[in-house]
Amino acid sequence: MAGALRVGIAGLGTVGASVARVLRDKAAELTRQCGRDIVVSAVSARDRKRDRGVDLGAANWFDDPVKMAQTAEIDVFVELIGGDEGPARLSVKAALEAGRHVVTANKALLAKHGVALAEIAEKKGVLLNYEAAVAGGIPVIKTMREAMAGNSVNRVFGILNGTCNYILTRMEAEGVSFDVVLKDAQRLGYAEADPTFDIEGHDTAHKLSILTSLAFGTRIAANDIYMEGISNITQADIRAAGDLGYRIKLLGVAQRTESGIEQRVHPTMVPTASVIAQVHGVTNAVAIETDILGELLLSGPGAGGNATASAVIGDIADIAKSRPGFQHGPVFGRPAKELKPYKKAQMRSHAGGYFIRLTVHDRIGVFAAIAKRMADNDISLESIVQHAVSGEAAAQKTVILVTHETTEAAVRKAVDGITKDGHLTDKPQVIRIERAG
Ligand SMILES: NC(=O)c1ccc[n+]([C@@H]2O[C@H](COP(=O)([O-])OP(=O)(O)OC[C@H]3O[C@@H](n4cnc5c(N)ncnc54)[C@H](OP(=O)(O)O)[C@@H]3O)[C@@H](O)[C@H]2O)c1
Repeated sequence: MAGALRVGIAGLGTVGASVARVLRDKAAELTRQCGRDIVVSAVSARDRKRDRGVDLGAANWFDDPVKMAQTAEIDVFVELIGGDEGPARLSVKAALEAGRHVVTANKALLAKHGVALAEIAEKKGVLLNYEAAVAGGIPVIKTMREAMAGNSVNRVFGILNGTCNYILTRMEAEGVSFDVVLKDAQRLGYAEADPTFDIEGHDTAHKLSILTSLAFGTRIAANDIYMEGISNITQADIRAAGDLGYRIKLLGVAQRTESGIEQRVHPTMVPTASVIAQVHGVTNAVAIETDILGELLLSGPGAGGNATASAVIGDIADIAKSRPGFQHGPVFGRPAKELKPYKKAQMRSHAGGYFIRLTVHDRIGVFAAIAKRMADNDISLESIVQHAVSGEAAAQKTVILVTHETTEAAVRKAVDGITKDGHLTDKPQVIRIERAG
């Protein structure tokens, strides 16, 4: 049997402690699967005294994760600290430069420095595995990188943030406001004390940027993502969506278009009957559309200690099974130096259907004026209805429009025109409709 694979774990929090625990509990099975033992030979965290719920006495303790990354005592450096700079970046870079394989769950780090780190890994001939960085326990990286060779991806989209999906699911099921569910989610530990990063779409954007690179062979462009969060979604939107046969989800979407690649994160209406609309609560899902395979949907737990540890351990096991001299596949599916520059499609040229909710003065001529603004911008309407909203003031009405395929530019121009006409009593709401099977 080959010698044991020696693992150093940096970060012993929710994910790191779970990884250590599962490696201990499943040691015999992992040895059978990998043909060698996997041992935790070094660990690093901030507080040496903290109880991690697992005996790590046999592992060497390092106060400094960079020192651990460089030690000859480990074959694999597992980074579970988090953050796009500081100890996470320094230690991952040091490990790769020292010729250690790296496993990380850190989407923020990869979104910002993934290509540069991949270049080092490929130069050194070591693996940089990151299955847990996107959609937690769902094996989407492996699927896209390995199982879909030869496929050309047209679109990849998904529910990539459990907190947002949890909030939208409860808003729909219980008929309560965004603020009420958010407070409850914070109390239950499903949302952070500062929820901005999740609810405004940043976390989804980080994950999407990695999927975009894998899908289209482009350099990661996390700063070039159109982003809208879910904090403006109201009960009126959710109820109107339901009446029209849609459900609202926060999606990350990357799509090839004639003018470039669209990367966007925003609340989206998906048909209630579609598979992705059935993904509830904290569950994540990723749909991949390709020329050969058609549409594939993967769904499962996107976070949590054990689910994330499952992905991390899968990555470690791949390293345990690889042999010296084996030519490892490139980190983002193509050699990092050959990744193409990202050509951004402008959001104004996005084509699709739109849901528009307008709160208007209840007076004669408003309907006709709205319809005219739409026609002036070549927007053809699937429906325009006055929607009864309970508790609404008698002097105002809600008008819901659903458009056929049009462009973002046309919709913005039409809505600006309606706003200028002075018919609105509240901010207009525009939600994009996404095709989904
Ligand atoms: N939690 C999830 O469900 C989940 C899912 C997918 C991906 N991830 C990713 O996994 C990573 C870890 O997340 P987590 O939730 O496990 O975080 P966490 O619970 O906050 O744990 C972070 C760990 O890093 C350690 N640490 C912080 N600064 C350090 C330093 N300078 N040197 C050494 N250790 C340091 C902390 O040490 P102390 O314990 O001593 O303070 C702690 O053990 C992040 O990149 C996150 O995005 C998490």
